Amino acid sequence: MTDVGIDAIEIWTGKLRLDLPGTLAPAKGEDPEKYTKGLGLFASSLPDTYEDIVTMGANAAHRLMEREDVVPADIGRIDVATESAFDNSKPVSTYIAGCLEQIYDGDFRHANKGERKFACVSGTQAIDDAYNWIRAGRHRGRSALVIATDTALYERGDAGEATQGGGAIAMLIAENPKLMTLSQAQGFGSMDETDFLKPNQQFPSVDGKRSIQVYLARMREAIEDFEGQNGEMHPEDYAHIPFHTPFPGMVRKAAALGYRRLIRDTDVEEALANKIGPQPRPEAFADTEEYREALSEYTEALTSTDRYTTWYEEVIEPTLWISREVGNWYTGSVHVARASALLDGAANGRDLTDARFLVASYGSGAQAEIHEEAVQPGWKREIQKLPIEDHLERRSDIDFEEYELVHDAHNHDVDTGTDLRTFSVPEHEFVFDGWGPMNERQYRFVT
Ligand code: COA
Repeated sequence: MTDVGIDAIEIWTGKLRLDLPGTLAPAKGEDPEKYTKGLGLFASSLPDTYEDIVTMGANAAHRLMEREDVVPADIGRIDVATESAFDNSKPVSTYIAGCLEQIYDGDFRHANKGERKFACVSGTQAIDDAYNWIRAGRHRGRSALVIATDTALYERGDAGEATQGGGAIAMLIAENPKLMTLSQAQGFGSMDETDFLKPNQQFPSVDGKRSIQVYLARMREAIEDFEGQNGEMHPEDYAHIPFHTPFPGMVRKAAALGYRRLIRDTDVEEALANKIGPQPRPEAFADTEEYREALSEYTEALTSTDRYTTWYEEVIEPTLWISREVGNWYTGSVHVARASALLDGAANGRDLTDARFLVASYGSGAQAEIHEEAVQPGWKREIQKLPIEDHLERRSDIDFEEYELVHDAHNHDVDTGTDLRTFSVPEHEFVFDGWGPMNERQYRFVT
């Protein structure tokens, strides 16, 4: 069977940078260490007033197509994953295709376009759809363009304001990919939950603390489901585990849970037993509460062992460095985590060819999904084409008053007029260009 997976990746970060410990924390009267040490965040990327989910998605896709020498006729499918859509009927992929058609000779007339929704897990679902489409042999030799694009803004004053962000990631899904092949094995944990939702409203209703618990519960179920299908896993099976990263502190919790599951009944559990005892098993406890308490004590002891901290530094930490600088991008976050690990590997001369990643996605509402990917021989040359440092550095810093203006400009309920202040200069990119006669958003390419 032909391998199918991720052939190329491009990232477009919102062009503004809000310093979290230096600017947001003092303005909100908070300790900067809540951001740096607690949440693990240093900055949020935010879209300038001429940017939105379409411009960011189209700009990421354009750069990807240019770099990979791809033209519209090579693309048979465009799927956009987002939880920031502004149109309940016309999918964001049509807006993005329309942008790209302004500057390419050909068009996407014969490409299947759609939009995927399931909070932050929908980017992974869109990759799934593309994988299935290619595997089913319906692609006529063409590739799929999967774009995860979001403006992750919360109501001003909401606790979620600490974890905001905005950006897009475009991925080419193809046969014989240069970066990662996807395995068929998957695990799911999925339940009807109300931890985070947007019932026909722009900003989310979110129970932040509960969303953390739901993330962990669904992730545990996804791991159980995966192990049920594919047999027990071992922590040394995986070079990296990119998790959905709303903020790195969330991954600190998820990694502890994952590691505990991965070492159960292995030589690692046995080796650590001298120091911290064996893992508690439910059958040894009279009630669930007691079992949970013992489990959380064991997890705390586990995460302070050298074995765990070394594993965390090698396997998890490299997936987090972009997130620390950009915040939450919702649908794109887990894919940014994968890109972070690959970029870190290339920068540090690691030999990742044939290494396996366990990719752990999550979307509120709620669903976790895990699957394996294998790194391909051409990975290093390919990922080095993504100039992430340049993208991060070219952002313009904004102060708190400017942040308030930008937040208002993106707030659908605030009329900020048409003559909006901008904080950066658009160059060789798509920009928002006002509304058309049917209330459609319009775009133009700035040379
Ligand atoms: N020094 C070190 N750590 C600090 C600190 C300080 N001065 N102040 C706070 N912290 C730690 C807290 O202990 C906490 O860590 P813990 O959860 O490991 O205990 C972390 O920083 C966050 O602080 P907290 O007071 O809980 O922040 P908050 O009330 O602003 O809520 C979220 C944080 C994530 C719940 C909130 O930002 C949110 O709702 N985000 C959106 C939803 C989301 O992203 N959910 C994730 C699952 S998808």
